[in-house]
Formats: sequence, C-alpha cells, structure tokens
Amino acid sequence: MTRRLPLCMMALALVGGLTIAAPALAAPSDAPPVPTQIEGVNRGDVWQAVRTGQTVGVVSIPDKKAAVLIQSEGEAWRALRNGPLSQYGSWVLGGIFAVLALFFLLRGRIRIDGAKTGKTIQRFNAFERAAHWLTAGSFVVLAVSGLNLLYGRFTLLPLLGPQPFATLTHYGKLAHNFLGFAFILGLLLIFLLWVRHNIPERHDLVWFLKAGGLFSKGVHPPARKFNGGQKVIFWSTVVGGGMLAFTGVQLIFPFSFATLAELQLFQLGHAAIAIVMIAIIVAHIYIGSVGMEGAFAAMGDGQVELQWAREHHSLWVEEVTGEKPGHHHSHGTPAE
Ligand code: HEM
Repeated sequence: MTRRLPLCMMALALVGGLTIAAPALAAPSDAPPVPTQIEGVNRGDVWQAVRTGQTVGVVSIPDKKAAVLIQSEGEAWRALRNGPLSQYGSWVLGGIFAVLALFFLLRGRIRIDGAKTGKTIQRFNAFERAAHWLTAGSFVVLAVSGLNLLYGRFTLLPLLGPQPFATLTHYGKLAHNFLGFAFILGLLLIFLLWVRHNIPERHDLVWFLKAGGLFSKGVHPPARKFNGGQKVIFWSTVVGGGMLAFTGVQLIFPFSFATLAELQLFQLGHAAIAIVMIAIIVAHIYIGSVGMEGAFAAMGDGQVELQWAREHHSLWVEEVTGEKPGHHHSHGTPAE
C-alpha cells in the first residue's frame, strides 16, 4: 500500500494537471510544455499501472473495490458480450428453428407406423411428470427472461418504448432470480429419478449409427427406457443445467464467492451455455410435441400407446410387459 499511494496521488494530480493544461494546449504561444515526467516517473508508466490494476487508490468506504480506478477487463467483457457472444448466439438460435422447420418439411410428423392397439402402458408416474414440468416450466421462463436481458435492449425496447420495457424487464429479472432455484430443484429430481436409465450402453451406438430412425420411415433401432438421443438430452440437461446453476448462483450473489474478473467470465459462460441449452431444448420440445405422434402423452397423463412404445422403446416394453420383440405385428423390431 505504501508504494501504491504516491502513484495514485500522482495519477489524480495528472488528471487535474491535464484539465488545467487543456486550454493552454490550444494556445501554444507561451504555455509551458505538458510534462512527460512527474516527480521523476514517466506519465505513461503511471497510466499503464492504473490500466493494468497494479495501482489502486485508497477509499475509506467499506467497499474497497471502489478504489480500482480502471478495470480494463470490463471493456473486453462488454465487447465480447455485446459483440461475438450476442451475434453467434443469434445464429445458433435462428439456426435451430431453421433446422427444425426443414426437418418438418422433409420428414413431417413422425407417425406411429404399425396399427394402434388401443392399449396403453404407463411410462412416467405423477412424481416423475411433476419433476419434469417443474424443470420445464421454470426453464421456459428463465430462457425468455434471460434472452430479454441479452437481447431485449436491441429488440423489445424499440418496439415497446422505455416505460413498458422497463416494467417488463424488472419483473422478468425478478422471475429469473427466483425461478433459478425452482429449476435447480427440478434438475436434482430429474437427475435422481432418471440417471440409472441414462447410462450409455452398446445398443445406443447402433441407435446413433441409424440416426435413431429419425430420417427413415419404419426404421426403429431398439432402445430401453431412453434411447441414445434421449440420453444426450438427459446429460445435456444435467451438465448444461448444472453449469447454468453454478454460474447463475455466483451472479445472484456477486462478490460472495467470486472476484469481479471471475464474475465477468461466469456471465459470459452463463449466457453461452444458456444459448446452447435453449437450442437443444427447443429441439427436445419439438420432438416431444408436434414432431412425433404419441410422444406428448408420456409427459401428459403418463400413459403411452403400446404400439408407440414397441416402436420407440422395444427393449423397455420387453422389460415391463415380458413381451418379446417380434411377437406382434409391428415394424421396428431388432429382427427387422
Ligand atoms: C416445455 C416443453 C416440453 C415438452 C413438451 C417436453 C416433453 C417431453 C416428453 C414428451 C418427454 C418424454 C419422452 C418419452 O416418453 O420418451 C420428455 C422427457 C424429458 N424432458 Fe422434456 N419437455 C419439455 C421441456 C423440457 C425442458 C425445458 C427440459 C430440461 C431443461 C426437459 C428435459 C427432459 C428430459 C431430461 C427428459 C428425459 C429424456 C428425454 O426424453 O429426452 N424437458 N419431455
């Protein structure tokens, strides 16, 4: 501190000096030259020390962070956030909607291929569905209010005008802060309930090699409770959601656990992971609703059409009903 104090005073003296010197510069006639040295120290060195945070001032208020004159990383953070992060982010988000629209045009809704049986089997119980909708409901509000924090100023503000935008953003931010905890709870429940069904297995490889039959009508590679693609959704949710939770909690309680430089990195990470997660979840929502006949019921009342289950989860049907694949009239058994 003793070494830092005089440097800081010099910096302040310099600011004052420049202010006084400015009018003099305009009339160079008999004005004294602007000093390049202050008490034997080069001015450039002083500013460099301020710029790089080697020199800090002294404050008597409790918040010692206020003694930092310039936090240069802040400029880099802001440029990254409002520049590449926002830009690439909008491409990723626009891209997923374009890909899904194209997929819908080419493949249409994935139908149940075989004849429906009229029988259903239970896929998820009430507790599993509650955990799913707690996670899903909070995630959707978090996604919308979060995107508003990143893009709202450039999109909604010009549309709505300042007052409605400020009100909306205020409540959005409140929702974002509180629902983060609902999402974390849902995430924990989903993890505990389903992790045992999501361990990668050999037949998942076959599923991926056949692209899950997503692009070819009548192709149904065998799967247990969750197929390879769903395991990707599960682990994306757990890992991506976990990282969002970690960085998000840091940002809700700034400086409690992290420094300013760390918080800037966490903010960039939080936004980048959120954008990738939103893109993945938009695809998940598509296939779980309009994209596939019979899928939504699994999370609706928990009962799925038996033929749907045979086609998409043949090994699981075998486990829960004892039915051997191929002993019924459907496409999509391993023998196919
Ligand atoms: C908001 C609209 C959503 C809809 C319509 C939806 C629909 C579904 C459906 C129908 C299933 C069961 C699939 C099956 O029976 O095989 C499911 C499973 C699942 N959902 Fe969602 N979901 C939504 C949002 C979310 C969100 C926001 C998350 C996580 C952040 C999520 C995470 C999961 C996970 C991890 C599974 C199990 C793995 C899988 O089936 O992919 N869901 N969802």
